[in-house]
Order: sequence, then C-alpha cells, then structure tokens
Amino acid sequence: MRAPVIDAQELAHWRAAPPVELVDHLMEAYHAPLREGLPRLAAMIARARPPGPEGDAILKCFETLSNELDHHIHHEEVALFPVVRAGQKVVEGRGLWGLRAEHAGTAAGLHDLARLTHGYAVPDGATPAWRACLEGLRNLDEATQDHMKLEDEVLLPAVVAAP
Ligand SMILES: [Fe+2]
Ligand SMILES: [Fe+2]
Repeated sequence: MRAPVIDAQELAHWRAAPPVELVDHLMEAYHAPLREGLPRLAAMIARARPPGPEGDAILKCFETLSNELDHHIHHEEVALFPVVRAGQKVVEGRGLWGLRAEHAGTAAGLHDLARLTHGYAVPDGATPAWRACLEGLRNLDEATQDHMKLEDEVLLPAVVAAP
C-alpha cells in the first residue's frame, strides 16, 4: 500500500483545530469528492478495463470497495458527525468499533487494488482511457489513506470520551 500524502504539518494543524472544523473539512475534501467520483470511476473502469480476467478482477475489487466506502461515509454522517457537531463526546463502543472495522476493510480493499494493478503502474500499450483509470485509482488510494488517517489519528482521539 502507498504511503499517505498528508504530512506532519497538516496533521498538527488539524490536531489544533476544533473537531467540528475537521468534520467540515472531511465532508468537503473527502466525502463529497467520493460521492461524485466513485460512480464516474466505476463507469470509466467498466468501459476501459483490459479484456480478460485481470481487468474483470480489478472492476470487481473496485465495485466492492466503492460500495463499502459509500456505506461507510453515510455511516459516519449519521452516526458520528452529528454528535461531533453537537459538541458531545462519543462513547467508545460498538458503533465506533464498526467505523474502525470499516476502515480496516477499506485499507484491505485498497491493498488488493494496488496488488491487482501492480501499484497502479501503466502497462505498455495502455489506452489513454485505461491510463486515466489507473490515475484515478491511485488518487483514490492516496486520498482515502489521508482521509482515514485524519479520522483515526485526529478526529476519533479528539471526540471519544475517556472511559
Ligand atoms: Fe470519512
Ligand atoms: Fe472513515
């Protein structure tokens, strides 16, 4: 899996910011682009994937990941973000455990996608459309790792109530 792009300075910035500002940032920088970008990327991959089992496996892996991400961002928007916006602490328990498990599932899906595409490398003779798909997948991988890092390392520690 690729290293996250986000740097220590940006992490420090969000650690110092009110959690509600981080929630706004997560919505704008990650959730909204996923809602807009996942269906577009799915259509691109369905059209431009190489023929044969390798291309089919990439599409299937992407569709699974895309469905999980779609469910996951909705889960956060109904179960976590409203509590943060209300200025309340979140109680550690099954709900949060579910979010963390979903992050682990997403990380595994991204790992599979990177493996199936040989690290999003553009093969010799790739069509421009397939090249654009691989670039889109690489961007999704990097952005999603940053997205999960901000939630796991900054948002959750800031909003979970001490036991
Ligand atoms: Fe999120
Ligand atoms: Fe998340």
